[in-house]
Amino acid sequence: MSDPLGLTTQALAAIGQARTDEELEKVEVEYLGRKSGHVSRLLSNIGSLPPAEKAALGKAANDAKRAIEAALAARRAELEAARLADLAETEAIDMTFPGPPLKRGHIHVLTQVRREIETVLESLGYKVELGPEVETEWYNFEALNIPAGHPAREAWDSFYFSPELLLRAHTSPVQIRAMQRIKEPPIYIINPGRAYRRDPPEATRLPYFSQVEGLAVDKGLTVGDLKGTLLYMIQSLYGRDRKVRVRPSYFPFTEPSFEFDVSCGICGGMGCKSCRHKGWLEVGGCGMVHPQVLRNGGIDPTRWNGYAWGFGIERMAMLKHDVDDIRLFYESDLRFLEQF
Ligand code: DAH
Repeated sequence: MSDPLGLTTQALAAIGQARTDEELEKVEVEYLGRKSGHVSRLLSNIGSLPPAEKAALGKAANDAKRAIEAALAARRAELEAARLADLAETEAIDMTFPGPPLKRGHIHVLTQVRREIETVLESLGYKVELGPEVETEWYNFEALNIPAGHPAREAWDSFYFSPELLLRAHTSPVQIRAMQRIKEPPIYIINPGRAYRRDPPEATRLPYFSQVEGLAVDKGLTVGDLKGTLLYMIQSLYGRDRKVRVRPSYFPFTEPSFEFDVSCGICGGMGCKSCRHKGWLEVGGCGMVHPQVLRNGGIDPTRWNGYAWGFGIERMAMLKHDVDDIRLFYESDLRFLEQF
């Protein structure tokens, strides 16, 4: 391609250096401007030339114009692409960018305590056994040696769907269900779960709460085995300095029956405000399984005997964390729950 006076070369160099649309525009005017552009000026005195030169110059000028126009368009496209790429870097939303981290919650303190209890008892060989919260009158009372009209029924008054069906008042019915299911001792099971009573909410009781029932059926079990199991559990949960004591009590499904207490962790058993100067905190009930209860579960009490216990998970959590109002566990106040 002919390039009179190096016009095209100069123009292309200027176009290549232009960084903005405005700079490109200037170059365009400088070379292709109608009146004073370099290409127009080249042609301004074409009229005075001989015909052969006229044609050659005309062609050269046209070639230059086309080449410059093409270079301008190419450079414009380049600048636009760069502008878009830049925008993508600085302003676009990057869908793959990880969002701000979600605040992670944690397991509810009652679940934590329940799992700790399960872990300790499982380490002794107990298996977790579950039972229904809607229970029949037979499993909740009758099978546990609490016949209709028995005064002890009042202590476990619950919510009834019908005279036959109620929300279980304790986890003890699972003892019967476990014996019926497993049939052949030895049986070592625990049942963590909800229970319901017709109690108005107070600092120490609620109409719904959780218990951990335990049942062992084997040959020649003693109160010593029962107490040793409870002591091992309590010391695993609260520390080796805790003591356990059992006091005579009454439950229709055990004979003999006991309440079991744990030495107060605050005063070490000396007596203080938090244990109401007793040195001991009440945890639950226990005893040697009544022969009639074994029979109701389908087990021959002349060949086997057993021990059982039941305590509240909330009570255990209150002991562990010095909580003085059971209602706090269920109010879902994060200021309380986040502490554990
Ligand atoms: N079921 C009793 C209650 O809810 C607690 C209990 C006492 C469970 C003695 C037992 C037991 O297994 O042997 O108050």
